Amino acid sequence: MFNQIVRFWRRKDTENCAEAEENELLKRIDKNKLPCHIAIIMDGNGRWALRRGLTRSYGHRAGIEALRDIVRICSDLGISFLTLYAFSTENWKRPQEEIDTLMNLLVEYFHKEIDELCENGVRVHPIGRISELPASARKAIDMAVQRTRENKGLTMNLALNYGGRHEIVDAVRAIASKLANGSLRIEQISEKLISDHLYTAGQPDPDLLIRPSGDLRISNFLLWQLAYTEFWFSSVMWPDFRRIHILQALVDYQQRERRFGGLNKKT
Ligand code: IPE
Ligand code: IPE
Ligand code: MG
Repeated sequence: MFNQIVRFWRRKDTENCAEAEENELLKRIDKNKLPCHIAIIMDGNGRWALRRGLTRSYGHRAGIEALRDIVRICSDLGISFLTLYAFSTENWKRPQEEIDTLMNLLVEYFHKEIDELCENGVRVHPIGRISELPASARKAIDMAVQRTRENKGLTMNLALNYGGRHEIVDAVRAIASKLANGSLRIEQISEKLISDHLYTAGQPDPDLLIRPSGDLRISNFLLWQLAYTEFWFSSVMWPDFRRIHILQALVDYQQRERRFGGLNKKT
């Protein structure tokens, strides 16, 4: 009993410290200079679980908690676009059992969260080759898209069966077929036209890319769109990723100078 009470107060202490740090970070964030578009590679579920002696599936389940939290904070902060990497075109190489777990969690997530997503005005926009996903996953995605289509808050791009190279291949195919049927001329091909044929057509490029879990690579994510994005890496595993980490990333982001190939303002 005594040990339980000590554990309870220790947890409370940690929570109070985290809250104090969050408030401190919030004070440092300039609400007028928030990124319009944040992209996140939700990585580290497997390692999080294995370190606890659990199977990788537990890690994916725990990752859903982080997803919930991060969508909420981004929506509360007034971020316009959040692109979340959930399943890559390369992730089919995983054992079938793990793939099934991920697809089932996706269905469960949408069914459990759809009301809250609607209350918060979140619009769900899947990106990737969705038609190749299992029928149950497609059905849940369709439901979420239909239910949230009129929402005007945060656009949540959920990258599923997504590959940056596949995305470019799909754009090239679409452009090539317009050239072939004469509805487009070669001179009309521009950076804007290519952007307009990507899954993220009409959206601004990400301002900030976040990758938790310590790996320093982009793993075939948003190859075209990340041209001038600021990168923020963290060793925290995705299931432990919370509001405080987003706030840390935002403070860091706001201290950077984005030059887009130009010159420093002071030079
Ligand atoms: C991210 O976590 C989830 C997916 C890729 C679907 P991982 O499963 O890649 O976890 P790690 O990187 O092996 O720890
Ligand atoms: C990237 O993570 C894909 C997702 C998080 C969905 P991976 O774990 O698949 O990437 P690699 O294999 O470490 O590059
Ligand atoms: Mg990984």
